[in-house]
Amino acid sequence: MTGASGGIGLMTTELLASQGYEVVATVRPSSDMTQIKALSEKYATLTIEHFDVLDALYYPKILKDLEDRHNGFDIIVMNAGVLYGGLIEKMTSAQIMTTVQTNLSACIAITSTLVEGMKERGQGKLIFISSLAASRPLPYLSVYNASKAGLEGLAKSLYLELAPSYIDVYLVEPGFYQTDLWRHEADCQDQETQKVKKLAYFMTKPRDVKEVTFQILKICEGKSRRFHHTFGHYAKFQCLCKPFIYTKCGKTLYKYLLRRIK
Ligand SMILES: NC(=O)c1ccc[n+]([C@@H]2O[C@H](COP(=O)([O-])OP(=O)(O)OC[C@H]3O[C@@H](n4cnc5c(N)ncnc54)[C@H](OP(=O)(O)O)[C@@H]3O)[C@@H](O)[C@H]2O)c1
Repeated sequence: MTGASGGIGLMTTELLASQGYEVVATVRPSSDMTQIKALSEKYATLTIEHFDVLDALYYPKILKDLEDRHNGFDIIVMNAGVLYGGLIEKMTSAQIMTTVQTNLSACIAITSTLVEGMKERGQGKLIFISSLAASRPLPYLSVYNASKAGLEGLAKSLYLELAPSYIDVYLVEPGFYQTDLWRHEADCQDQETQKVKKLAYFMTKPRDVKEVTFQILKICEGKSRRFHHTFGHYAKFQCLCKPFIYTKCGKTLYKYLLRRIK
């Protein structure tokens, strides 16, 4: 599990450990370890390792050593992610780079380093934590959306590419959950961003993280074998609206709603 210090990663780690899975919870050295440490004291099957997913891009040996120490991984949950919101011209290049590298490039690097071991063992599961935003993009989250859309492209190709090696690929698309993911997004205080933000919040509603963690457990148990995992009626509604949004009418309606927001 990457990014296990909080949010979806932490809750899924707890659920899996409580079900007897041997979980290697990876956290970057700078992460707040309080919650994950408390869990490791509770569950003997839980091990914590330091791993910054960005290291996978430049130092694959760190990941290889991790794999060797644990005799390989049967399931990899690529969960670590960051989100910076804002109008694209207001984003710094550091924010853009971090978003794309954490949410997409690191997942490519982790997969390319660890997939060999899975192939040798003739089995494995890759679970990519994407976002509903990848296929139903929201304004003012363009770079985040782009990174997750890239992740979906990766997962779709690997789904086929790895099928002959008995490695299963899954795409989990959470909607909106109130976790620490949104902490940087509070930084964008300009009026234009605030208006778009209000509209974006109107278009989506926070849900219970547990639905995501239980779905990941079902995938691990082999009880859910489908590729795509979305949540709730709202996701279906957004999916239905998608063709309309990208029409002239959709654009006009969007601009009208934006003008009405104070
Ligand atoms: N919450 C939502 O509404 C939502 C919706 C759709 C998709 N998702 C996706 O779900 C995943 C988990 O997000 P979350 O909501 O649980 O947010 P979160 O609480 O902020 O968790 C993100 C985790 O990723 C870790 N992380 C960030 N950069 C890292 C790096 N370079 N190396 C290692 N770990 C790193 C964070 O560690 P630190 O504690 O050190 O920052 C944290 O543990 C993300 O991929 C996110 O895009 C979330």
